[in-house]
Amino acid sequence: MNLKHYAVAGIFALGAAVPAVVSAADAEAGKAKAAVCAACHGQNGIAQIPTYPNLAGQNEQYLVSALKAYKNKQRSGGQAAIMQGQAAALSDTDIANLAAYYASLPADGGK
Ligand code: HEC
Repeated sequence: MNLKHYAVAGIFALGAAVPAVVSAADAEAGKAKAAVCAACHGQNGIAQIPTYPNLAGQNEQYLVSALKAYKNKQRSGGQAAIMQGQAAALSDTDIANLAAYYASLPADGGK
């Protein structure tokens, strides 16, 4: 038995699974859901208020974990209370779709 082959096959299997997970999120649905977010994070994901964070071009997985942390109230302090309220109403599907949408936007706001 050659364990090295199993390891290589495992890596390929993992590589094939990742795009499937990413494409499960629906950026178009996220865009529709993002109307309420735009008030603070901007129409293009660039915040108009300097103390609010930009979301455009942020890593998708980071956005998912940030939104889940607000929803679970694991992320608190500072301005997090604002976001806890926003995230409370989001389902896991909403979170995945919103993350896909904001990650897809150009980080420079499309200039
Ligand atoms: C009333 C204003 C407001 C609205 C509406 C709002 N946010 Fe936020 N958002 C904030 C503020 C302020 C922060 C920074 C909170 C902190 O200090 O943790 C933030 C932080 C975030 C972060 C973390 C960013 C980072 O870099 O860690 C994400 C992700 C996020 N918001 C997504 C959303 C989404 C998605 C929506 C719509 C469902 C939304 N926000 C609606 C004000 C808002």
